[in-house]
Amino acid sequence: MLAALNIRGGGVYLDATFGRGGHAGAILEKLMADGRLLCLDRDAAAIAAAGAGFAADPRVTLRLAPFSSLAAAAEALRPGLAFDGILFDLGVSSPQLDDAQRGFSFMQDGPLDMRMNRDDGVSAAEVVNGAAAEELARIFRDYGEERFAGRIARAIVNDRAARPFLRTLQLAEMIARVAPTRERHKHPATRVFQALRIHVNRELEELAAGLDAALARLAPGGRLAVISFHSLEDRLVKRFMRRHASPDPMYAGLPDIPPHARPRLRLIGRSIEPGEAEVARNPRARSARLRVAERLAVAAA
Ligand SMILES: C[S@@+](CC[C@H](N)C(=O)[O-])C[C@H]1O[C@@H](n2cnc3c(N)ncnc32)[C@H](O)[C@@H]1O
Repeated sequence: MLAALNIRGGGVYLDATFGRGGHAGAILEKLMADGRLLCLDRDAAAIAAAGAGFAADPRVTLRLAPFSSLAAAAEALRPGLAFDGILFDLGVSSPQLDDAQRGFSFMQDGPLDMRMNRDDGVSAAEVVNGAAAEELARIFRDYGEERFAGRIARAIVNDRAARPFLRTLQLAEMIARVAPTRERHKHPATRVFQALRIHVNRELEELAAGLDAALARLAPGGRLAVISFHSLEDRLVKRFMRRHASPDPMYAGLPDIPPHARPRLRLIGRSIEPGEAEVARNPRARSARLRVAERLAVAAA
């Protein structure tokens, strides 16, 4: 993965999804004393767990910030700062999934929360107990590609009148009852939980804002590497990279393309899926997909 970033010892890098610092640590191993690494995460627990190793490293700046504040975080570090490489490793981290109190898991009982930043936005319980049946069905369909979206949404609205949904297992068991298993090796609640998580954390809006900000902050020759975990994210990343790797369609077929309409990215290879060894080490990497692009130099007007 790190090869994709093409790290230079004295370069400036951004890890937009710090998590438990696995990738950040690997980047630091390649950076010299004059290299810099800005790390972002919207989860206060991730930043708090970074520990002295990262906090005391003069090359590192850690910030509690979402992708939508990427530009502001970079600007605060140094006005006009441009990066030689930017990494997004999307989705939830293992510590978030494994801590039942965060409410991401349909396998363990916990409060129905699912916010990556618990100080921001509404919880999954507020959505499940407050949204109209049509809105719930839309969320389950659009963000979970759930075939039984309408049936599950109606069952939620029916049941919550007597007893609101406050716990993860309460919701997971109800889904298993009304729409029993129909996909091998998948819990019946998988798609609804994914959908709620994406909705609660505004994940696709965040990703779109993050990619725009990243492109604006990449130095010529700088690499953008994005690891996604489901097709909705990957589709967005693929379209973004392709769009910026082609000239503006307004100028299609014209002999002279003005600088502002020329491609800004060059695609580096095709998307990469993890090898067997990586999946054996980390089964959650099974559905991961890496896409890489490089910032082209801006042509003079
Ligand atoms: C898959 S984990 C990253 C793991 C990390 N690469 C490592 O090696 O430990 C994703 C992390 O990104 C964070 N995250 C997800 N969406 C975010 C967003 N919009 N803004 C900032 N951080 C986000 C999550 O809180 C989580 O900690």
